[in-house]
Amino acid sequence: MKITLIVAMSVDGRIATDREQLADWTSAEDKQFFVMKTKEAGVVIMGRRTFQTIGEPLPERLNIIMTHQEPPFDDIAGVLESTSQTPAAVVKSLEDRGYKQACVVGGREIYSAFLAAHLVTDMFVTVEPLMFGSGVPFIEGVPGQRLQLISTERLGLQSVLLHYVVL
Ligand SMILES: NC(=O)c1ccc[n+]([C@@H]2O[C@H](COP(=O)([O-])OP(=O)(O)OC[C@H]3O[C@@H](n4cnc5c(N)ncnc54)[C@H](OP(=O)(O)O)[C@@H]3O)[C@@H](O)[C@H]2O)c1
Repeated sequence: MKITLIVAMSVDGRIATDREQLADWTSAEDKQFFVMKTKEAGVVIMGRRTFQTIGEPLPERLNIIMTHQEPPFDDIAGVLESTSQTPAAVVKSLEDRGYKQACVVGGREIYSAFLAAHLVTDMFVTVEPLMFGSGVPFIEGVPGQRLQLISTERLGLQSVLLHYVVL
């Protein structure tokens, strides 16, 4: 199954200034890319904290929210699901239901869990022209991994989109 990680980061490798921040600081072109790519995949997997910053399911995609707690919402078939399964079990369950692709869309804990479990097949990294100086790093506690650069694209005038395959 194709598991695509999508992240936008500052030049100093941060994905947010704090854990409650909504990722609305990225360029219009990045937002456009995110919507296009995640709709193409049809499934987004995110952590409970990231979901809280958004506040509602992303439309026209199955939203899988990872949490160890009782979620404050009911599942809606094909729209919203919460799970406390391991990343590998989440992927297996999607495969069993016939899904061929899913996007891992953050935050740091979920990126780290999927990378550590070697489930990510490719990654789109948008680098925005900002330095946060402090804040939430992209990943933490993940063993080193080698990537292969597939493409680079300038997004608008100021941002860069990098596509990597995880080897
Ligand atoms: N720039 C970007 O591209 C981008 C993208 C997404 C998010 N973000 C930013 O990332 C920040 C949030 O990241 P974060 O690391 O604090 O939180 P997160 O990864 O969004 O969510 C963490 C939560 O996910 C649940 N969780 C983690 N591992 C799990 C597992 N193996 N099984 C089940 N549940 C698991 C836990 O929920 P419970 O506590 O409920 O158990 C945990 O508290 C926000 O600031 C957001 O804006 C940035």
